[in-house]
Amino acid sequence: MPQPARRLRHWQALALLLASAVPASGDDALATELVEWLRTNGAKIHDGLAIRHVDPSDPTSPRGVFATRTIDEGEVLCNIPWDLMITPGDKYTSVDDSDEGCRAIVSTIEAFDDGTNAYARYLLGQPRRYLPDFWSDSARALLSEMLAVGELAAGPMTERDELPPHGIGEDGFLDWLVKDCEGFGIDWTNETHVHAGEMADFPYLVPFYDMFNHNGKGYNIAHRYNPYSGERIDQTGYEVYTTKSIEAGEELLNSYNRCNICQEQYDWFGAPEMFAEYGMVNGDMPQMFLFDFARVKFELDHGADGGVEVRFLVPPSEKGIGLLEGQLRRLADFAKERRDRGRDDQGDISEYEWDMIWRYHAMLQGAISLAVNGSAKEERTDEVWSMDDDWWVKDGNTNMAAGYAWIYPNLHQNLASEEL
Ligand SMILES: *[C@@H]1O[C@H](CO)[C@@H](O)[C@H](O)[C@H]1NC(C)=O
Ligand SMILES: *[C@@H]1O[C@H](CO)[C@@H](O)[C@H](O)[C@H]1NC(C)=O
Repeated sequence: MPQPARRLRHWQALALLLASAVPASGDDALATELVEWLRTNGAKIHDGLAIRHVDPSDPTSPRGVFATRTIDEGEVLCNIPWDLMITPGDKYTSVDDSDEGCRAIVSTIEAFDDGTNAYARYLLGQPRRYLPDFWSDSARALLSEMLAVGELAAGPMTERDELPPHGIGEDGFLDWLVKDCEGFGIDWTNETHVHAGEMADFPYLVPFYDMFNHNGKGYNIAHRYNPYSGERIDQTGYEVYTTKSIEAGEELLNSYNRCNICQEQYDWFGAPEMFAEYGMVNGDMPQMFLFDFARVKFELDHGADGGVEVRFLVPPSEKGIGLLEGQLRRLADFAKERRDRGRDDQGDISEYEWDMIWRYHAMLQGAISLAVNGSAKEERTDEVWSMDDDWWVKDGNTNMAAGYAWIYPNLHQNLASEEL
């Protein structure tokens, strides 16, 4: 059975983390305590940094890392030693070890049970079940229906597809984890263990680093550590430095899909994936969308007049735009039927899940609508349908894409199992 695409993507995303995308929830004390604990235990953390709410007057705004004084280009912001990170085991092992995800969850649970670990306390203070993979069954079912999971098929390469993000189905990531991690002693009926699964979505959990917020326009921090170069993170520590000089008061910003080691994520990790992997649905521009079933890929950004403009990253086809128009109609019908019925009538969907579903619905509708309208100005060509299933690869590392970054099980893979 082919592995779900998301699993492979998690491997690629190993250098990134999700906790920074979590809205702050009264845990300033935990963050302060964490920094103290890190410094006491051998981490280097720049003394010109403060962790505060992005909007200081709004305690519900997300937390971020800000400069309290001028910081020069190239200064080290943090270096987190291996033994303060949460990792798949005591010893460094190669990142493609297939059990590493399960072992990282086990390590997270152990850290949760270790009363002396301030990072574990910080993680325990983060919201729970905020990633769609960890939502209630009812909410995931509603989201799957909205995305038409498994129901879109455009061919010639894509046998079954859906609107992005991918991998959120009835047989979703959590179901897959339960099967994959059998024998690791994880108790999936225990909410704390499930929380560990959500936090340990990547094999290395790196304290402090995970507090830098995402910025779609670019970053002013970079990783010294490059997991792709075969460097041993247990020897170097996880080091982050500034890529430009920073003014006092400025926020230190990472990019979760366009960082200095994001590699092939340039090509496929857009707004839908930000939602799936970090729980983020917001209006931050630019936003990339990749619709594999329609072979349409575009970016949205603010234009000169302040409005949002569409830029096609691959020339759109008549057929592709037609397929997107069909989805616009379906999304409108879906809202009429499901949103108008109200939350109470549709299982145990939480207020948060309900709100996120409709925020994402609005985002999809808006993006597709802009693309359909914007395509009127484009020359349409069927070229994209004669390309292979890597049609969407452009900016990134095609070597990686060839091996790992396919969008959804395609005809080649499905045929392969039947042919054998
Ligand atoms: C759930 O898991 C945590 C972490 O291992 C543990 O401390 C707690 O006792 C467990 N709760 C139950 C009800 O088993
Ligand atoms: C696209 O065009 C339609 C029809 O003119 C219009 O109703 C809709 O608001 C436009 N959508 C966007 C996002 O501009």
